[in-house]
Formats: sequence, structure tokens, C-alpha cells
Amino acid sequence: MNYIRLRKNNLYVDNISTLKLVKKYETPFYCYSLSQLKNNYYRFNNAFKEIEPIICFSVKSNANLNLLRELKKMGAGADVVSIGELFKAIKAGINPNKIVFSGIGKTEKEIKAAIKKNILLINIESESEANLINSISKKFSKKTSIGIRLNPNVTGKTHQKISTGGKDEKFGLVYKDFINLCKKINKMKNLHLKGISVHIGSQITSVEPFKKVLIIIDKIINKTKINFEFIDLGGGMGISYLKKEKQINLKKYAKLVNKFLKNKDSKIIFEPGRFIIGNAGILITKIIYIKKSNNRNFVILDAGMNNLMRPALYNAHHEIVSLKKTGKSLRENFKFVGPVCESSDKFSDKKNFSNIREGEYVALLNVGAYGMSLSSNYNTRPTIAEVMVSGSKHKIIKKRQSLENLINN
Ligand code: LLP
Repeated sequence: MNYIRLRKNNLYVDNISTLKLVKKYETPFYCYSLSQLKNNYYRFNNAFKEIEPIICFSVKSNANLNLLRELKKMGAGADVVSIGELFKAIKAGINPNKIVFSGIGKTEKEIKAAIKKNILLINIESESEANLINSISKKFSKKTSIGIRLNPNVTGKTHQKISTGGKDEKFGLVYKDFINLCKKINKMKNLHLKGISVHIGSQITSVEPFKKVLIIIDKIINKTKINFEFIDLGGGMGISYLKKEKQINLKKYAKLVNKFLKNKDSKIIFEPGRFIIGNAGILITKIIYIKKSNNRNFVILDAGMNNLMRPALYNAHHEIVSLKKTGKSLRENFKFVGPVCESSDKFSDKKNFSNIREGEYVALLNVGAYGMSLSSNYNTRPTIAEVMVSGSKHKIIKKRQSLENLINN
């Protein structure tokens, strides 16, 4: 079900026309559909209902406090990678016993906070980290629950910059090192090894790489004879950004996991980000100018790479639509660009588009994940507002940064 769609030639989010929203909120702004968010979450939950996994929403994909609160109400836990994300998840009301802490570079301060909060698992990625957590836990007279992140040497077909499961990447421990560390951890009195975790990358649309990962985890379990209480399969489930691109087949993935879990009494953890929030968000932006040059129309928007980094970072495609579809489209070249002083500050090109004019509005689609969370103050531009639509209601869930705040530091 799509809650962000054209209705009577206007772009709607739930029951609200985006044309109404631009009258009320200053552009550019992010806008989320709560119905879409719920739909995605429950679809994920349903696909895996047989095994009742712990769904730890990956906060890095979108750290808006209000959205985290909504996810908490649906039953989500959190996957965090910094003390900021940890405290935000807790502030959103997420129970620490549903929080996993990932990342290769956790600092002493972050580890102390995670131990004090009694989170579900700290997923460690090196022997040095194990030693540090052990010694801090000793000082606190605690036994800390940890998982070890495996580097399975499996890569999904995705952008090279968001692939994490290859043996040459910095993430996790390769097979041999994993086995050795399990033995060493057994001797560390203040650690309780409860989990194995893995995350091979993001925006993976085929289940094949996940299948390979399950085979390797089985191999590890057979070798170590450890009955892991938790098997954390990470995130990475891909969505459809292009018409021809299919989102991951969750039912197929669930079948594999159900089979894998037979004869095991482990609990599965997932860390989805993009699948849950990706298509629930759009970026609404105004056309400041249209400049004709060399048979092209440069459509200059008030949103730029400072608001949405994905095209500049990964050549990512985000569909652009006009908020109001007018009659016939023009068969001309359109280049949608931002105001930032960099030539990489551009969005998608179009070979035909609505007959748009300066002062009108367009929306970039599927930007709920890694949109706002990757944004910056580059060119000393404020971070923008986030608006949430729920049915026929809409409200600001994060204010646009004020100019005063922007220039005073
Ligand atoms: N778990 C771990 C350990 C991760 O590193 C990530 C993402 C996730 C879960 C969530 O992955 P997801 O389900 O969202 O694919 N900025 C990039 C994506 C970077 C992903 C980093 N790790 C982008 O805009 O495509």
C-alpha cells in the first residue's frame, strides 16, 4: 500500500495534499507519512511472525525523536551506534533490553553508558574492544552481555560504499578470528557471550547473500558449539528506488530464516532502517529559478546536497515529481539541482517533466532513510523542518533550525 501518491493530479501524503502543506511550512522540508511507516513496520513484523524476532530499528537511518516514539509504540527496539543514538532511543521510551549497540569504534564513555543502561547486547568488533568492556564491567562489578560481529566475507549486490560484509572491510571479525575470540572471551569473567551479529551492507534486494550468511553462521555454531541466545542478522533489506527495481522479497527471506532456526532455541534480532522508513518520507522543495543552458533546463531548487546527500555520495536516484501534475509533460531535458556551490549538488535528470514554473514545488521521493540523518549545515544553511502527516492531521516534528542558532556558533 502506498500512502504517498497522486490523487486528482496532486501529490498526497495520507489524506493531505502537499499543496496545502507548502502553504503552511517553509520549504524545503521533510514530510513523513505515519500510515506508511506503520504499514512498513507491520509488514516486516508479519513476514517474520513465525519466529517473533526482536526488531531493532536502525536509528542511523532516521533519528527523529517523534518517529522513534511512534516506532516504540509499535513495539520496536533500537540498533544504535553512538551515545547520542543510545540516549535518543531511551528518551523515545525504548526499553534498554531491546537496544543493541553496534559499531567498530565505541569509546570508553559510550561503553560505560551502555553498561550502565543494561542494554540487550553490545556487539563487539575487536579483541581490544572485548578487553576494554571486560575491564570496565569489572570496575562496575557487572557481567556485560555481548555479541560478536562476524565478517562473513559475503557481499550483497549493492553500492560499493554501503557494502560491509567483504573480508577487506573494517567491519566484524573474519571466521578464524571470530572462533579465536570466542575462546578468549570464555576466559573473560565480566563478559557474557550471548550473541553473534552480522550486517553485510545496505539496500540489498536479493535474498541470496542473506542465505549465504545463514550457512556461515551454522558453520560457526557447529565449530564453536556455542548455543547463542541471540542471532542478530542486521539490516540491509532493500527497497525500490527505481520503477524496475524490486524491493526485497521478505517472505522468501522469512522462509530461509524459519528453516535456519529449526532445532535452535536462539532469538533472532533484525536491525532494519531503510525498509521501515525509506519510502515513508519525501523532501518538498521549491523551484527558485529555471535556467536554460545548452538545450537543458536547470531547475534550481531550494533543497540541496546539504539536505539530501545520497545523490552526491552514492549517485543515488530519487524520483522527482511535481506536487501538481499539469496537462501534458514537456519533452525537454531537465536537470534538477540545488543551490550549493558544488557541481555534485544535483539530483536526478529527466527527459520529460510536467510543465513547471518558477515558484512551484516538486518532491523528491523515498528519502525517509538517510535523508535528514545525513544532512548538514554545509554552506551555512540551516537544517530543515520535519513534518509528520497522520491521516488528515499534520504537524511539525522537528523545527527548522533558526538563523540565530545557525550563526551563533
Ligand atoms: N545494522 C548495522 C550494523 C548497520 O551498519 C546498518 C546500516 C543497519 C543495521 C541498517 O541498514 P539498513 O536496513 O538501513 O540498510 N547512508 C547509506 C546507508 C548506510 C548504511 C549504514 N549501516 C545510504 O544512504 O544508502
